[in-house]
Amino acid sequence: MPEVEKYAVIGHPIAHSKSPVIHKVFAEQTGENISYEAIDAPPEELHNAVTRFITLGGRGLNVTVPHKQAIIDLMDTLTERAEIAGAVNTVIKLEDGSLCGDNTDGIGLIIDLQDNLGLDLENMRILVLGAGGAARGILATLAELRPEELVIANRTLDKALDIVDEFADIGRIKARSFEELAEDASEMADADADDDIDDIDDIDEDDDYSADDYIADASGSDDEDDNGYEGDDDNEPGPAFDLVINATSAGLEGKVPPFPACIIGPDTVCYDLSYSMRETPFVTWAKAQGCAAAHQGWGMLIEQAAESFNIWRDIRPDTTDVRKQLPS
Ligand SMILES: NC(=O)c1ccc[n+]([C@@H]2O[C@H](COP(=O)([O-])OP(=O)(O)OC[C@H]3O[C@@H](n4cnc5c(N)ncnc54)[C@H](OP(=O)(O)O)[C@@H]3O)[C@@H](O)[C@H]2O)c1
Repeated sequence: MPEVEKYAVIGHPIAHSKSPVIHKVFAEQTGENISYEAIDAPPEELHNAVTRFITLGGRGLNVTVPHKQAIIDLMDTLTERAEIAGAVNTVIKLEDGSLCGDNTDGIGLIIDLQDNLGLDLENMRILVLGAGGAARGILATLAELRPEELVIANRTLDKALDIVDEFADIGRIKARSFEELAEDASEMADADADDDIDDIDDIDEDDDYSADDYIADASGSDDEDDNGYEGDDDNEPGPAFDLVINATSAGLEGKVPPFPACIIGPDTVCYDLSYSMRETPFVTWAKAQGCAAAHQGWGMLIEQAAESFNIWRDIRPDTTDVRKQLPS
């Protein structure tokens, strides 16, 4: 019988991780002879922990908070998508013993949003909250789909601006602080109110009116704002987004950052990359704002794990059963 091949997830903290359970189910389903453990390594221990695991025969790693960017220094090569994202969530030990860093977060999220939840991302206005490793992993993949609008907002605005600069060739992304999101919303609400007043002022009782008189000129202009976003001013959308993705790690501390409530409307679908056996703080918050639906990141976790498994073992597990066993 061939020797058991070793895999692991490395992060800090790591006790909450369900990756070992998911990979165990995948291994049973596919008949692959692997082990999968969780390694708790604080940032100062990352280098030693990775070296030790690989030296002792480790074949691959998943990488989670807070190491997705730091681990790049330990890689010999990166895949194109990991290079673009500037973050690694999957490490592969190649035949020559070198380490290759990949990133399956983006594709894992897209598969969950499109295939499992049935969302039409290309026609959505999407807001990503957070600008850490996970946000980097998903933004390039989202930008490639050319959604109607893609905005990234972060506590530290400079990090969001860096991402907008780095991803400029992939797609149009707009960077905002949480405060600026609220300002945008209030400007849009003011503009809507002005339009309504103008419409009423314009009515002349002697004129014949058709529905066309009330449809805004959609020609738009391509003015670039301070954060590098070229918007069609006449097509300015309303304040609430169609899809709001929380990619901050605040939930790990039981917190919800001060996101403005105006980003959520009755049709908004919310997605928290964080996941928990109980409701996450962001999901609780999003529901309290009256969103249409709020999902935890279990589906993404399972799909990115299936993608990693496929890279390591050359077989993609069916995720249906695992998804049924975990909360939505
Ligand atoms: N479901 C999945 O498969 C999956 C995959 C990947 C990640 N995740 C989850 O995604 C989350 C983020 O992971 P990551 O790797 O991107 O972490 P990270 O690189 O450490 O980035 C953390 C991000 O959260 C923000 N943040 C943290 N605490 C905050 C607070 N109190 N208020 C406002 N912003 C705060 C940071 O803002 P600053 O830049 O201002 O510090 C930064 O943007 C984690 O919860 C992780 O478990 C899930």
